Amino acid sequence: MKIFLAALTATWLCLAVPAADAIKPGALWPDNLGEHIQAHGGGILKVGDTYYWFGEDRAKNNPRGLRCVSCYASTNLVNWTHRHQVLKLRNPENFGRGWVLERPKVFYNAQTKKFVMYMHIDGALAGEGHGYKLARVGVATCDTVDGDYQYLKSFRPLGHESRDIGQFIDDDGAAYLISEDRPAGFHIYQLSDDYLTVAKDVCLIPEHLEGGALVHYDGLYYAVGSELTGWNANPNRYATAKTLAGPWSEFKDLAPPEKNTYGSQSTMLLKIIGTKTTSVIFMGDIWRPDTQWDSRYLWMPLEIGNGKLSLPAPREWTLDVKTGEAIINR
Ligand code: DGJ
Repeated sequence: MKIFLAALTATWLCLAVPAADAIKPGALWPDNLGEHIQAHGGGILKVGDTYYWFGEDRAKNNPRGLRCVSCYASTNLVNWTHRHQVLKLRNPENFGRGWVLERPKVFYNAQTKKFVMYMHIDGALAGEGHGYKLARVGVATCDTVDGDYQYLKSFRPLGHESRDIGQFIDDDGAAYLISEDRPAGFHIYQLSDDYLTVAKDVCLIPEHLEGGALVHYDGLYYAVGSELTGWNANPNRYATAKTLAGPWSEFKDLAPPEKNTYGSQSTMLLKIIGTKTTSVIFMGDIWRPDTQWDSRYLWMPLEIGNGKLSLPAPREWTLDVKTGEAIINR
């Protein structure tokens, strides 16, 4: 009995003591240089065994007027090496006042062997003072995953307004851009063969959702998004469908609505297929609009299955990317 109790205590201690390699939602997340990771509104691309995390680099010491995207690399999704500021843009098309570059996402096109970055480009219309009216996507490409991306162009997908974008790569490798089109809703666009434009509007979900994200899990598609409340957190919601084209179920809360998604906003759903199990990670941003460089990340493994999705209360957790197992520290 004594031995059993000792073993139990040891296990409990082990789980209660913060693990060095734990993911800590809401905490500062230092990279290999000890700097808080600058990959806000980001997305992840896996190349071989390495995950590349791209996002808005809002570091305090970035030169004024420059909009930057940083790329980090990791093999365990916990310890990240800063690779490069892969895009540094100074208003490339003479956009209007307060132009912005947000939510960069990178795809790899096997045909052209190019890495293709999509981003939300916005700003005021010519002669107007208010921002977020351009509602376009920008495209940049690179021959290597973490090299210098060259900005190509911006456009409105199939003529539609596009603000927050998300990225989805299906199990068959097909690449989709998720896009918020006010006031119509949430588009799922299939990219063209070379990924340099949008080829087809696969679905328009008539819901006003930002921070759009998708995952395909156990035969069902799950779509997640937040309400439109600027930088303030709100209850993120989800719907399901058997095909991307729908029909989609009604949207339901991802967490108790009074928790406002624990202060975060969705940016991507990351599927980790391991040797033992498949985990789906909710990647969210905890925005700090007045000190954007200090915005935090809320990553948590989701409870998913049978058409239900639930975001657990944030706690430290560990992930084994080989087995796919995610363990939440109790
Ligand atoms: C909410 C969006 O999700 C963010 O990416 C950003 O565009 C803010 N709105 C700006 O208010």
